[in-house]
Amino acid sequence: MNIGILGAGGIALDRHVPAIDAHPELTFWSVVSRDAARAAAVAESHGAAAPQPAHTDVRTLLADPELDAVLIATPDRMHEAHAVAAARAGKHILLEKPMATSVEACHAIEDACQEAGVTLAMAYHMRHHAGHRALKSAVDAGAFGTLRHMRIHWTFAAPDGSNWRARPDTGRWWSLAANGTHCLDQILWLMTGQCGEITRVACIQSHAKFSSRHDESSGVLMAFESGATAEFFVSVQIDSPSRLEIYGDSGWARAEDTMGRHGAGRIETHAGPIAYTPTDPFLEEWTDFHRAITGNRSPEVSAREGSTNVTWLARIQHAAKERHPVAGNLSPETN
Ligand SMILES: NC(=O)c1ccc[n+]([C@@H]2O[C@H](COP(=O)([O-])OP(=O)(O)OC[C@H]3O[C@@H](n4cnc5c(N)ncnc54)[C@H](OP(=O)(O)O)[C@@H]3O)[C@@H](O)[C@H]2O)c1
Repeated sequence: MNIGILGAGGIALDRHVPAIDAHPELTFWSVVSRDAARAAAVAESHGAAAPQPAHTDVRTLLADPELDAVLIATPDRMHEAHAVAAARAGKHILLEKPMATSVEACHAIEDACQEAGVTLAMAYHMRHHAGHRALKSAVDAGAFGTLRHMRIHWTFAAPDGSNWRARPDTGRWWSLAANGTHCLDQILWLMTGQCGEITRVACIQSHAKFSSRHDESSGVLMAFESGATAEFFVSVQIDSPSRLEIYGDSGWARAEDTMGRHGAGRIETHAGPIAYTPTDPFLEEWTDFHRAITGNRSPEVSAREGSTNVTWLARIQHAAKERHPVAGNLSPETN
């Protein structure tokens, strides 16, 4: 299966291309960059296999009949245009998180994929972390009893305020889009099966280090239908070890340094450690994407889940702006 890359930046070249190379059924085929010299350099240095692998126009990359699927890893604001174009060209899509920057854009992507009959998988690689999958199995098996609370802390120190996520033409959220969307995905994945949907959210944000117009830190609280609660803190202001905790009536789990790109870290529980063999979550993600296409089944993280995630990101941002908690039954304009 031949894979084209839109957005040959950090995550695409550091993690996705090595994962594609490691997968026996996938070939890194072609790439698009706004800069012709860069497109050619990336294609050559990473061994893109197409006869004409380097493009400056997304349309010429997508017009290639030998191209089967694309990775979309462009800035968040561009996901809608790129995903809709890829779907209309009949290409399967692995789409980096967050799905888009508005609920309407998510629906446009979903509709285009449905009309074209292509697979869309959301690239929440933390879903493929072997330790988190073992934790999910333990939660579902009732190892912690009735869930009452979950908490995630995940930060990194941005060097300055120049990141595209801090600019309105390329991003809508900064800390929420960099790390928060992953935290929200983990919380929804681990809790909703037992606790039902989120019913309300509250959020306080900081812009204190870079004076950015977008969130540099976000502290988010949420409640579920069952009465369970969850919280996450994400930030681009500070480096710190990550932690994920989950608490139930009959036990708890604490994951240290599992949030990230590497697939490693330790998970302790009230009953001792959860043993697992670390794997590359990006390779697992591509394996799942390939199986979803060839097996004509849903991927691990569907378009619907991507869209739900963006709905809550928008509500969280609204709660931060309005400085009061926001409930689930909002009118469309707050989305
Ligand atoms: N799963 C994860 O954990 C994870 C981690 C990081 C990022 N991501 C997601 O992956 C996507 C890309 O993030 P990244 O960190 O890889 O970003 P990045 O390093 O800045 O790469 C983005 C690429 O998009 C291209 N691009 C096209 N139009 C652009 C514009 N107007 N401004 C800036 N770049 C533009 C650029 O390539 P050219 O200059 O060659 O055109 C750039 O190299 C985002 O959606 C992000 O949320 C996911």
